[in-house]
Amino acid sequence: MNKNLRKAVIAGNWKMNKTRPEAKALLEAIIPLVANAKDKIEVIACVPFTNLETAVAVTAGSNIKVGAENVHFEKSGAYTGEISADMLSEVGAEYVVVGHSERRQYFGETDETVNKRTKAALAGGLKPIVCVGELLAEREANITEEVISRQIKLDLADISAEDVKKAIIAYEPVWAIGTGKTATADQAQEVCAFIRATLAKLYDNATADAVTIQYGGSMNAKNCAELLSKPDVDGGLIGGASLKAEDFNVIVQAAVEG
Ligand code: 13P
Repeated sequence: MNKNLRKAVIAGNWKMNKTRPEAKALLEAIIPLVANAKDKIEVIACVPFTNLETAVAVTAGSNIKVGAENVHFEKSGAYTGEISADMLSEVGAEYVVVGHSERRQYFGETDETVNKRTKAALAGGLKPIVCVGELLAEREANITEEVISRQIKLDLADISAEDVKKAIIAYEPVWAIGTGKTATADQAQEVCAFIRATLAKLYDNATADAVTIQYGGSMNAKNCAELLSKPDVDGGLIGGASLKAEDFNVIVQAAVEG
């Protein structure tokens, strides 16, 4: 397994934060800080739907790519409040977060709908960032691997090797999200390696080696270097720390340094 086969990806997940003027100001602060990461790592800002057009305009010509935080699985139709992959692509989004634990927890997202949304994203030309992760009770019951294996198999069901290489998998232990409790670098490595081994079984070694696997959950300026130094941790999906330009940049620079 060779980390050099993959580009590191640092993605901010802004969640339900920032109005358009605030989004513009944050991105304008981040752009010059991370300019040196061009060609070395991928930097993404996943922003609320209402900020997408602003984010695409502000980041034009920079090395920051823009993503959305969710996508509906149908192409169009009577789905009040939902947004399709075509709508996201048209506005200039290149990535989309799918199956975040907050969506699973608060909005009834299931592995079945995560699978449908992942397929819709790929069909619409978007690169999905597919989130998986165990609850605290599941870790304490020693069933982390069972939970992750089940999520990976169901979330990626009927997705080809060619398509899965366009996806990013984010390992986000639910107990570490927004809690200030980070998985240790060894815990993150262990599960990211397990995800890669699961991909190797479902597809093949070359495919597993090509897929970027991120860690997410209270990653910050202090703990990022150790997490990102691990062989199967190819990047980070950052919540709180992505809302502060300096902190986000520290994480980007840690990924540049490997
Ligand atoms: P925090 O970095 O705020 O813990 O959030 C992580 C996350 O959920 C990213 O998707």
